[in-house]
Amino acid sequence: MNMDEKLLNYYLELKSPEAGEWNSSPQCIHTELITRDFVRKTFSVTDGIQVCNVGIGTGDWDDYLGYWLKGKGNITSIDINNEICEIFAYRQQREGHPNPSKVLCKSIFDSDLPKENFDIVTLIGSAINETGDFKKCLDSCLSLLNPDGYLMFMANLKYSSLEMLEEYLKQTNYQLEEKNLYNAFPEYPFFICKIKK
Ligand SMILES: C[S@@+](CC[C@H](N)C(=O)[O-])C[C@H]1O[C@@H](n2cnc3c(N)ncnc32)[C@H](O)[C@@H]1O
Repeated sequence: MNMDEKLLNYYLELKSPEAGEWNSSPQCIHTELITRDFVRKTFSVTDGIQVCNVGIGTGDWDDYLGYWLKGKGNITSIDINNEICEIFAYRQQREGHPNPSKVLCKSIFDSDLPKENFDIVTLIGSAINETGDFKKCLDSCLSLLNPDGYLMFMANLKYSSLEMLEEYLKQTNYQLEEKNLYNAFPEYPFFICKIKK
């Protein structure tokens, strides 16, 4: 399959019966709206700002971050899955994204990731669960941040509890600066936290 065929499959998959039902739901649209609004209201975009997102998935969040930073900063997107990285980089190029991600096809647990390099790291949705290790994942995300950096951590309360996060933070010097719970759809409750390194 050539890359354009792969890209067509990617677009079709977003509208497939399985993914399309969730993607078109109020719960999904609400979660995306709140998460995008949170980042732009909580963090300022300064000249030369370096942002990293861990876990690309569909890449919609990374697309948004690139637009948010356009003309000022850069985004690096990390994902362990080679196919996800490949189609994401190709899609951004084909769609002409004006501020595409630098894609690192690596695990967040890889030891050769750039340490103390970013002003903001984002970890969104199911990414932390998919890594399979809550504590190690947060340790690694925080290690990517420069000494004054922030982690924006968003997760579904059904899979990651705030107690786990608070327990984790108690054993570190990191500061929980903001913690918001969203319950408009009780069947899909989630939180967004701003954590200072
Ligand atoms: C389902 S996506 C969700 C993330 C995306 N921000 C969103 O909300 O749509 C989770 C991503 O995490 C990636 N992932 C899983 N384990 C990982 C690891 N150890 N390091 C980096 N990425 C990982 C998966 O390949 C997948 O693309």
